[in-house]
Amino acid sequence: MASAVAHSITAPTCFAPKQSVAARSAVARRCRVSCIAEPPSVKASTPTPTIEESEAAVVAGNAPWAPPPAAKPRAPAGTPSVSTLHLPSRPRRNRKSLALRNAFQETVITPANFILPLFVHEGEKNSPIGAMPGCQRLGWRHGLIEEVYKARDVGVNSVVLFPKVPDALKSATADECYNEDGLVHRSIRLLKDKFPDLVIYTDVALDPYNSDGHDGICREDGVIMNDETVHQLCKQAVSQARAGADVVSPSDMMDGRIGAIRTALDAEGFTDVSIMAYTAKYASAFYGPFREALDSNPRFGDKKTYQMNPGNYREALIETRADEREGADILMVKPAMPYLDVIRLLRDSSPLPISAYQVSGEYSMIKAASAAGMLDERKAILESLLCIKRAGADVILTYFALQAARYLCGEE
Ligand code: PBG
Repeated sequence: MASAVAHSITAPTCFAPKQSVAARSAVARRCRVSCIAEPPSVKASTPTPTIEESEAAVVAGNAPWAPPPAAKPRAPAGTPSVSTLHLPSRPRRNRKSLALRNAFQETVITPANFILPLFVHEGEKNSPIGAMPGCQRLGWRHGLIEEVYKARDVGVNSVVLFPKVPDALKSATADECYNEDGLVHRSIRLLKDKFPDLVIYTDVALDPYNSDGHDGICREDGVIMNDETVHQLCKQAVSQARAGADVVSPSDMMDGRIGAIRTALDAEGFTDVSIMAYTAKYASAFYGPFREALDSNPRFGDKKTYQMNPGNYREALIETRADEREGADILMVKPAMPYLDVIRLLRDSSPLPISAYQVSGEYSMIKAASAAGMLDERKAILESLLCIKRAGADVILTYFALQAARYLCGEE
């Protein structure tokens, strides 16, 4: 824990913290040697002149010895001889060394920017998720606690919980979502008991609990019923707050749910529980691996009547204004990498903190390409996260949170 915090202060670069630590000590070594500027011939026994004597020598024209300028490095034979381009600026000057590049880096990521999504199930053991190599459904009693322990150890102190609910508990109205002894509720209570200062985000949506696999209640003609769903979401959010959630995160995209949830939380005395709104959540193919992880694929149709059309940009502003007006504390864009323009739009349109969700498909793409030897995994992970932050996200929900934080702490 302490090492992660210290690291984020002393080594702000996200690209090569290990290298920069090594580079730091190399600079220190060189400095120790070159601070003694004497020609090799000078005897160690020469008495040290006073400052006045040194100044007098220089004034008299006897400048002491210093190393000559470095020889101009030779270009390879055959390099064309050209006249110097007269350029008003040469941007490469500010990139010429690691120290300068680090000094001028505009965006920096630290483990404090990450929110780690965690899948939980009722089992005592963890089980791997085929479509998300390296991710597991965690046993809520043991695996979950161990994973959070590991995350906190490298400075990741925020998690968001997603439950794999037994089919027998799913129903058309998803009432299990507000069962105060449900999987998420028990998990929150256990986590708060072990780690009182852990920031726990919850997902507010019906899909893990809905026998139809949709985020809302489904009428027989397939229409997702907005206001009835919002009623259930309010009960879900309040029950999660009662269990100890710090931030409830409606991911359902129903209209008016932020305001309704705010009112419901306040009425129950949860004025301190925040709302992270999935503001611009797109109907995306990149959620595929997540739905496998939770076995939450919609049984029919798709989610296009509530999630946004990937072709739409201005519409994100309509959602932004509604969520702000209704009292959201944090606005989210999801997915992240294919929607960097939308992240920037929200960043420039709202003073609220912006979060971005690097979703399961983005995770699996990088994992698969790295496993196939097509990408350098470490570099691709850190670059993807840095660029999502550069686009305007303050915090990033990412399955890479633990792995990336370890990189940033120089542990891997
Ligand atoms: C469902 C929900 C989804 C994700 C988070 N909450 C899937 C969906 O909308 O179908 C996706 C996260 C991911 O793909 O990593 N409310």
